Amino acid sequence: EKDGFDYFMLKEIVEQPKAVADTLLGRVSVDGQLTLDEMRLTPAELRSVEKIVIIACGTSYHAGLIAKYAIEHWCRIPCEVEVASEFRYRDPILDQQTLVIAISQSGESMDTLMAVRYAREQRARVLAICNVNGSTIPRESDGVLYTHAGPEVGVAATKTFLTQLAACYLIGLYLAQVRGMKFGDEINAVIAQLATMPEQIEKVLDTVEPVRELARSLADADTVLFLGRHVGYPVAMEGALKLKELAYMHAEAFAAGELKHGPIALIEDGLPVVVVVPSPKGRSVLHDKIVSNIQEVRARGARTIVIAEEGDESVRPYSDVLIEIPAVPTLLQPIVSTIPMQVFACELALAKGNDVDQPRNLAKSVTVE
Ligand code: F6R
Repeated sequence: EKDGFDYFMLKEIVEQPKAVADTLLGRVSVDGQLTLDEMRLTPAELRSVEKIVIIACGTSYHAGLIAKYAIEHWCRIPCEVEVASEFRYRDPILDQQTLVIAISQSGESMDTLMAVRYAREQRARVLAICNVNGSTIPRESDGVLYTHAGPEVGVAATKTFLTQLAACYLIGLYLAQVRGMKFGDEINAVIAQLATMPEQIEKVLDTVEPVRELARSLADADTVLFLGRHVGYPVAMEGALKLKELAYMHAEAFAAGELKHGPIALIEDGLPVVVVVPSPKGRSVLHDKIVSNIQEVRARGARTIVIAEEGDESVRPYSDVLIEIPAVPTLLQPIVSTIPMQVFACELALAKGNDVDQPRNLAKSVTVE
């Protein structure tokens, strides 16, 4: 069943190009338009949406955070993201014009299910993104977009996360399409670029060997910090979560711009800091700011592990380890930048002798609140 891999997690990381390709399959028609018919929400319903609220837990929550950047940019609809366990306890503002997107791999997380029930009681429309056919959350939602990652056995989410991102992008692009957003050309270009992501993932998987070596060299570290900006920030959060779950290490993610507001005091000699660098093109302001952040932490002794676009020479002088990823549109970068994070955490955990498929204290689906 493990296809020659020692752990399901290793196999599931390698399956990511196919998982994403299967999730995108059949969604784009010959004229480049998206069709998400199975979603059960009509274009008229989607045109009436005035606010989007994304609810999810853990890794699925990180997919939601990334979705916010894409949906707000493409659709100009205000979008909030909240951990499901907090959502219904704060009297959130919901009505019929609110689209709630519930992201859950298993479709069984009790926190997310309770949030879905609450949202429907408040008459919001609920769209589920889910990997398990016929599970409870899609059954109790108004509509569903299934990810097609196939069964994920490893407790830590890997391939399902990438497919959740693909699903979120599809929903964002579809909403932009049905609402007739004026930058239709950009939308069409992104649809075409999204279709190439499986090949880009393949490229990353072909070049992760140095990440494995790096991870093994850090098995004795106490703490690893992760920095990112824009969509790179939730990717940093996902990197930190993977490390906690699998390697049982203290790991924390910060928005790189927040560094100077406190966390920079944590930097000391030899502390590993993983930085996700935005594309140098288009978003040069953010790019240059993060390069300054890398210099700042390095000047204070940090060991910098930099994930940057191939050919981005500006970061090389400040990188103790440089991990290159393919050039893709900024909003889609998490699909490629997450992979080194997964490999890093998995390999570090293996170096510590941990069971990466069954990390201590964790269950694959959390069916209690
Ligand atoms: C992380 C992980 C958990 C889940 C979370 C939500 O690797 O697996 O954080 O992402 O428990 O689970 P689902 O998506 O099934 O609702």
